[in-house]
Amino acid sequence: MPASHRSEIDPFHVMEVMRAAEDREGAGGRVLHLEVGQPSTPAPTPIREAAAAALVDDRLGYTNAKGLPALREQLAHWYRDRYDVHVDPEHILVTMGASGGFSLAFLAAFDAGDRVAVTAPGYPCYRNALLAFGVEVVEVPVGPDTRFVPTPALLDLAGPLDGLVIASPSNPTGTVLTDAELASLVDWSGRNGVRLVADEIYHGITYGAPAPTVLAHSSDAVLLQSFSKYWSMTGWRLGWIVAPAELVRPMERLAQNLFISAPTISQLGALAAFERATVEEADLHVDRYTANREVVLAGLNEMGCPTAPADGAFYAYADISHLGVPAPALCNLWLDELGVAVTPGIDFDPTRGDRFIRISFSESTEEVAAAMGRLVEWVRSRDLS
Ligand SMILES: Cc1ncc(COP(=O)(O)O)c(C=O)c1O
Repeated sequence: MPASHRSEIDPFHVMEVMRAAEDREGAGGRVLHLEVGQPSTPAPTPIREAAAAALVDDRLGYTNAKGLPALREQLAHWYRDRYDVHVDPEHILVTMGASGGFSLAFLAAFDAGDRVAVTAPGYPCYRNALLAFGVEVVEVPVGPDTRFVPTPALLDLAGPLDGLVIASPSNPTGTVLTDAELASLVDWSGRNGVRLVADEIYHGITYGAPAPTVLAHSSDAVLLQSFSKYWSMTGWRLGWIVAPAELVRPMERLAQNLFISAPTISQLGALAAFERATVEEADLHVDRYTANREVVLAGLNEMGCPTAPADGAFYAYADISHLGVPAPALCNLWLDELGVAVTPGIDFDPTRGDRFIRISFSESTEEVAAAMGRLVEWVRSRDLS
């Protein structure tokens, strides 16, 4: 019997690049990683210590479907202390990463057949998860003319919409939405009866002003967040949602039925996430990304590649069209010839992505510098820059 139509979604290509890189490493080859969007560091020490203690002392049963009350309280305090925004802990749901939050948010906010806009380029799993839920995905092309921001003028061209998914800082462009841009998107969504979903997973990783939160402008938006990036906890599978009042109970029911609760050991570890020592350690990682970003932007400049803002997250989205090889073929070639893994833009923009690559600079500075050195040399030796 065939698989369902709804499961016929695209792969998450970056995972496929990772697999090809692993195959090469399995065969004894060395790969320099610019493809993986995850910190090369473990979680900060206080979190690991809290989890280790929990492993010894705690029963590690299920938690409440919305997550440990103490963790939700701490998250509410975080919004007060960091952003000066009041969040009711009852409106917070702890999830299995932001990815687990997608299922709750999209199922609670949208019906099959609804029209929901995502940006192109944008994080591919929004599009693919929405498609699996039977939602019609409307791609809004964004580019350098608006700093890759989906402006109200661009959204007006998309036809009637039920929802809009945005990310700030964005993957893959690193664009951080300003307060004014967030306010105008909140205003546009309100006027058009559109449910706004904002992914703030890269908050804390910025290279200029800190990223403002959508919660400062709206109590109708759904906010998605995660411990994966700033707190360096990708494998712990822990994130959270801040939901508008009318979606809290629907999301709680969905959480009970879809995954019962987020991993308890991760939640107990995350209770140490807001301690001063934790934040100091996480900020040191951001210092490393800042140094790496300089190396990557300088290299891309030497290669003659126009690059998206990269004001936040740890990615550079660069135009490689002048190199004369479409991105998927170029990425295969670089992996084979140079042992450097890079993600082709088609993951993020199915239409124009073969002209772009995404470079992740989350690894060590030595690794990023060595990999960029090889790419720059490859371009220089062919006189392509
Ligand atoms: C923009 C964005 N949202 C969500 C995710 C998923 O993260 P999580 O590990 O929290 O599921 C990622 C992962 O790379 C991402 O880049």
